Amino acid sequence: MTYSIIGSGAIGSAIARHFASAGIPVAVANTRGPDSLRDFADRFGGAVKPTELASALEADIVILAIPHDAVKGVLAKSSGWKGRIIIDATNAIDPATFGPADLGGEPSSFIVAKLAPGSKLVKGFNHILAKILTRDPDDGRGYGKRTLFISGDVPDAKQVVSELMQKFGFAVIDLGTLSEGGLLQQYGAPLTGHSLVTQELKGSSFADMDVVVH
Ligand SMILES: NC(=O)c1ccc[n+]([C@@H]2O[C@H](COP(=O)([O-])OP(=O)(O)OC[C@H]3O[C@@H](n4cnc5c(N)ncnc54)[C@H](OP(=O)(O)O)[C@@H]3O)[C@@H](O)[C@H]2O)c1
Repeated sequence: MTYSIIGSGAIGSAIARHFASAGIPVAVANTRGPDSLRDFADRFGGAVKPTELASALEADIVILAIPHDAVKGVLAKSSGWKGRIIIDATNAIDPATFGPADLGGEPSSFIVAKLAPGSKLVKGFNHILAKILTRDPDDGRGYGKRTLFISGDVPDAKQVVSELMQKFGFAVIDLGTLSEGGLLQQYGAPLTGHSLVTQELKGSSFADMDVVVH
């Protein structure tokens, strides 16, 4: 399984950090080419490989961590998707208001999926701030794991993405299809900006339960 992240900004960095922590190799590309990513890669050790965009677009799993408006141009550079997985971390934002872009009620990931025919698209990594996403999913105080949401129309792709997120240490909630869960987790939707942590049960019975909410 090969992985790539398109975008080395706030969200691309946060996701790269989890690949590095899990020891899973990942290619990273941006607009400026691999030479611009040397310092970026050095921060994460050997797991993160600066790559040309064209090469990054051929990975088995491609994570989009770029502005939503840039997706069309980037995906058009792929030679074809043929069942490969895209993880759409983009948020469709109206730059004038910083509110959600008017998509006429269409899930933002539908727009992305239509631009990559044959792909298996999973929405994920988009609903919390990069500075939260980058943290260790388990804060070490025994409270639990940070939760990521996923949604998508292809169950086996969601399973693969869920397993990846769990390798990073996150808890994962599958919100359903893009028209169900996508509309809950995309920018401006009810779950945007809500950062959930699982509640670990420390004792063996409800009487022993020591649940901390934070
Ligand atoms: N920041 C957050 O807290 C947050 C949270 C959730 C979701 N998101 C979403 O994640 C996406 C990225 O946000 P960000 O905050 O990480 O943005 P950012 O810090 O501005 O980084 C954007 C990255 O995308 C790259 N890029 C832009 N156009 C590209 C193109 N045509 N081809 C290849 N790479 C391109 C840029 O390359 P260069 O470095 O070469 O300019 C840069 O590395 C957005 O859709 C945003 O809405 C952000």
